[in-house]
Amino acid sequence: MHTMTSLLKKMKQEEKLVMLTAYDYPSAKLAEAAGVDIILVGDSLGMVVLGYDSTIPVTISDMVHHAKAVRRGARDTFVVVDMPFATYHGDFDRTLQAAATLFQDGQADAIKLEGAGEVLETIERLTKVGMPCVAHLGLTPQSVGVLEGYKVQGKSLEDAEQLIADSLEAERVGAKMLVLECVPHQLAKKIAEALSIPVIGIGAGADVDGQVLVYHDILKYGVDRLPKFVEAYADVNEVATTAIRNYVDATKDGSFPLERHTFTMDESLLDTLYG
Ligand code: KIV
Ligand code: NA
Repeated sequence: MHTMTSLLKKMKQEEKLVMLTAYDYPSAKLAEAAGVDIILVGDSLGMVVLGYDSTIPVTISDMVHHAKAVRRGARDTFVVVDMPFATYHGDFDRTLQAAATLFQDGQADAIKLEGAGEVLETIERLTKVGMPCVAHLGLTPQSVGVLEGYKVQGKSLEDAEQLIADSLEAERVGAKMLVLECVPHQLAKKIAEALSIPVIGIGAGADVDGQVLVYHDILKYGVDRLPKFVEAYADVNEVATTAIRNYVDATKDGSFPLERHTFTMDESLLDTLYG
């Protein structure tokens, strides 16, 4: 269990926080080795790992399955796990059960919940039970069905005021961090200044306390089109496809395997073997 609340607050003042998603043992291992401050087991795994076209189909058991693998790869990193679609609305006992599963089976250090209103009330109740929560406002992909697509939030005066109010409320109810997705940078800056908890942006500009991006996006790994707010720091699609094609070609043309890939036994035994 990593209790990093005070450390995160300190870091808010001193250095930018780096959050990256990871979904399995190798991605977590590489993220930890590269110095990521916080790993997010995002429900984006539904899209980038499982191939769904939204995060809606992701279940609690999907999250637990992946969170456990992440923990095995990154024992020393603070791990936030997403509450998936429709697992934290309505009956609080059901929400509590789902959240407890992420902490107990998934070994989460904190959980993340999308949305304002009743979701912030839920964060308040979960926090009182002793469960650290991260709020997620702005673009909330689990609501894609009722939003007008994946687009920037808080551009009108009314929406901007609402987002500021919701952000302040998130801090008031005890959220340990706030993720702001797809928000104009000027608005994100105002929110980061107004809050004492760290504000982590994705598509929210540079004037926040840290950034979060999706593992497969920054590596260009199995994804084709990247959102405007992503920087790809590698092209794994290219590297991996070339490598796999080389294996295919080498096997077809007999240049693989070579002697160095091969095991040998005592030749004299072969006579006995075949009589
Ligand atoms: O699921 C996810 O990857 C996320 C981040 C984009 C914030 O929620
Ligand atoms: Na998510």
